Amino acid sequence: MAKSKLYGKDLICTRDWSVEELNMALDLAVEMKKKRFSKDHRKILEGRTFLMFFYNPSVRTRQSFEAAATELGAHAQFLEPKSMRLKTSKSAGETIEDAARVMSRYGCGIGVRILEDKIDAYGDGDALLVEYAKYADVPIINMADDRFHPCQGLADVMGLRQHFGSSDLKGKKLLQIWSHGALARSWCSVQESLLINSRFGMDVTLAYPEGYDLDPEVVNQVRANCAKEGARFEIVHDAVAGYEGADVVYARNWMSSVAYDNGFDKQAEVEKALGFSKWICDEEKMEQTPNALFIHPMPVDRGNEVTDEVASGPRSIMYDVAENRLHVQKAVMALTMGE
Ligand code: CP
Repeated sequence: MAKSKLYGKDLICTRDWSVEELNMALDLAVEMKKKRFSKDHRKILEGRTFLMFFYNPSVRTRQSFEAAATELGAHAQFLEPKSMRLKTSKSAGETIEDAARVMSRYGCGIGVRILEDKIDAYGDGDALLVEYAKYADVPIINMADDRFHPCQGLADVMGLRQHFGSSDLKGKKLLQIWSHGALARSWCSVQESLLINSRFGMDVTLAYPEGYDLDPEVVNQVRANCAKEGARFEIVHDAVAGYEGADVVYARNWMSSVAYDNGFDKQAEVEKALGFSKWICDEEKMEQTPNALFIHPMPVDRGNEVTDEVASGPRSIMYDVAENRLHVQKAVMALTMGE
């Protein structure tokens, strides 16, 4: 594989890539899915190492990146803060500049995950990735930070295209709806979904109870994306109304807009969220749609975010999307790191 025009590029949010670049990754992911385990793919990163730095736990992201590295002929090395000696606000140690410059000499790329409970204020996690990108000579891949989750967004789009049987999502309605839940989720997956799907022309209804506003900068960008595409954008504070006419229901819990105000208190967030018991995606609500697909990035909080009937029902595509994480990450790694 010759170097692509994406060679060396970071992926911190899908909005940093043009629609053409996103389609390049999505098309390659589809091809790689069709020809899985091809010997040709194993040569793309043969003998190289992808460094994966996890501040937070993961099932899908770690396993799919490891599998992606294996299938591209590379090795994925798992790193945690305790395995390094990094400078933090509370302890002396190595700076990000030094870590990024040294890691660039070993790896073909660096993935980083840092979520809400490992930062002091909203945006700090994303800022850490931007700092890695500033100093690293190899691509920085966001494996989920407090603002964005680009690989999840790409896997979502790949799943929707697969199930609609068309790469054109224009005119389809996405209901991005808050769900009550016991996990106090970060905003990264929902913000990435809103950003990428609005660029592909979907009508967007964003539904949540008062007090659960997302990042206003992101929401303004989504509004602008919809306007540019001639698509509808609306915000409703109703647990049911948005289901009408929805082609896709993405029901997911996220933390409130004041979650970081006095330090992140997960228990307080969970207790507050569980009070909104009407905000669950169930069959009765799904019946108001014209047979919508159910989508979720997982891990799913069954019985709180969504009922078992919907999560395991015939219109749920969450396992396909989880599988797609592997294919889109292989494509992103091949395009940004393959020589
Ligand atoms: N969707 C997702 O990123 O899953 P993990 O947290 O298990 O990696």
